[in-house]
Amino acid sequence: MQTESKQISSVVQEFSRFAHQYDTYNMIQAKVATILVSKLEDKTYKSVIDIGCGSGEVYRNLQSMNIWVENFIVLDSSEQMLALHPNGSHVKKICVNFNDKTFLEHLPQKKYDLLLSSSALQWSTDLAYTVKALSSLSDTFYGTVFTSGTFKTLHDIAKVNSPIYSAKKVQDVVNQSYGNVKFEIHQYRLEFESTRAMFRYIKQSGVSSGERKLSYKQTKKLMETYPLNYLEFEVLFIEAKK
Ligand SMILES: C[S@@+](CC[C@H](N)C(=O)[O-])C[C@H]1O[C@@H](n2cnc3c(N)ncnc32)[C@H](O)[C@@H]1O
Repeated sequence: MQTESKQISSVVQEFSRFAHQYDTYNMIQAKVATILVSKLEDKTYKSVIDIGCGSGEVYRNLQSMNIWVENFIVLDSSEQMLALHPNGSHVKKICVNFNDKTFLEHLPQKKYDLLLSSSALQWSTDLAYTVKALSSLSDTFYGTVFTSGTFKTLHDIAKVNSPIYSAKKVQDVVNQSYGNVKFEIHQYRLEFESTRAMFRYIKQSGVSSGERKLSYKQTKKLMETYPLNYLEFEVLFIEAKK
């Protein structure tokens, strides 16, 4: 079994290795970020922090929906992803790992109008700690987390447990830090022309990171027996206020 530290380093590596082609492979995350940003109530914010910002999906949606942020802090553990994030005089990039217990010390401010995080917190190695630490940054949190129904059929057939948290676990943790919370679970299907293309997607999207590695033989068998022409994704949407 992999240790937690090994799991998280493999996440960072996988996102970095495919960073240049990441935008081609992030169809679901892109859709999720658009829905998340469309849920925001205000049109202007003084200060916003985006946790696990990647190449800037949240930022681009804020711009296209004419939501103005005076001071935008974007945080990611991958230098390569941060390099892909749009620049701007109001954008400050911070390369920090939210699994590092001292990560809050690296932030330029302690309080923000709004905390955002889309498709990143599933990689927290200690979700209760991360969510509690993040909740100190803002009274308002809008986020999305991929949950264990993602690749459900694939995991069932391979007889492996999902490497990511269940929606129930994420809900329990968020409820501990916020008083007024709304959750929504969205399920998505992504269709493929062939099983080969599907498995290529899993590898290149970075979504599979942290999974127990299957041997060549196990992967071949899985490809032959996978009964669907689509992959399943499960995403928990969070709108939380203190
Ligand atoms: C699936 S991408 C989502 C990017 C973007 N938020 C979006 O909606 O498209 C997840 C991002 O989280 C970052 N990430 C993963 N683990 C992290 C960690 N422990 N600390 C900070 N960032 C992390 C990855 O580098 C990657 O850029």
